[in-house]
Amino acid sequence: MDLETLLFSQGFGSRRQCRGLVAEGRVRIGGEPCTDPRADIPLLTPPPAFEVDGHAWTYREKAYVALNKPAGYECSRDPQHHLSVFHLLPPQLGERGVQSVGRLDQDTTGLLLLSDDGAFVHAFTSPKRKVPKVYLATVRHPLDDDQLARLREGVLLHGETKPSAALAAHRRDERLLELTVLEGKYHQVKRMVAAAGNRVEKLHRERIGGYALPASLAEGEWRWLDENDLAALRMKDGRAE
Ligand code: URA
Repeated sequence: MDLETLLFSQGFGSRRQCRGLVAEGRVRIGGEPCTDPRADIPLLTPPPAFEVDGHAWTYREKAYVALNKPAGYECSRDPQHHLSVFHLLPPQLGERGVQSVGRLDQDTTGLLLLSDDGAFVHAFTSPKRKVPKVYLATVRHPLDDDQLARLREGVLLHGETKPSAALAAHRRDERLLELTVLEGKYHQVKRMVAAAGNRVEKLHRERIGGYALPASLAEGEWRWLDENDLAALRMKDGRAE
């Protein structure tokens, strides 16, 4: 792949802008400036590393990213009342068409996946796929066994015809609920907890499939997902599909 196309594919702007970056000597390959936009960069394994304005990048055919979403950010690119989660990511990711895999409410924290791989986004948002998602909900009233049983057996949400049941519902603490759900309906956890007679005060997503939010990823930070992470995501409860 030529250098201009490589930069373009990685979200460094229009073809013209990418040519400009190269011509201005702002791109280095193997530590050396490269000023020829037509220079051939072989896409080998491991993929080529390059620098733009001194920042190291690695070529990735598709981008898969995990973000530890803070409260006060909307998942939309075009947010209504808060900043967008895209403010937390390098502009190259937005430029190459990365989108969030499902949505978290603005006040929900924790694991959010983003990708520009349409098939991946579709697979992880499709209700048919039934990917377990583990949430931690801090609730207003002490949890009782009846509420947990109702969540497991299924509660009818306003406007729905079939009950929604949690795959698992555990009390981690008097007011801390661990809830595993398969679908991703609008405000699903908050509505389920309300229907079971309690109220969510804080919500955090801890896990999707077999991939847990890394403890080392601080709020507002993101990281690339590697092949092992993607394999973990496809696992259900630690088992391969
Ligand atoms: N369920 C909710 O109610 N909100 C979220 O952000 C995610 C799941």
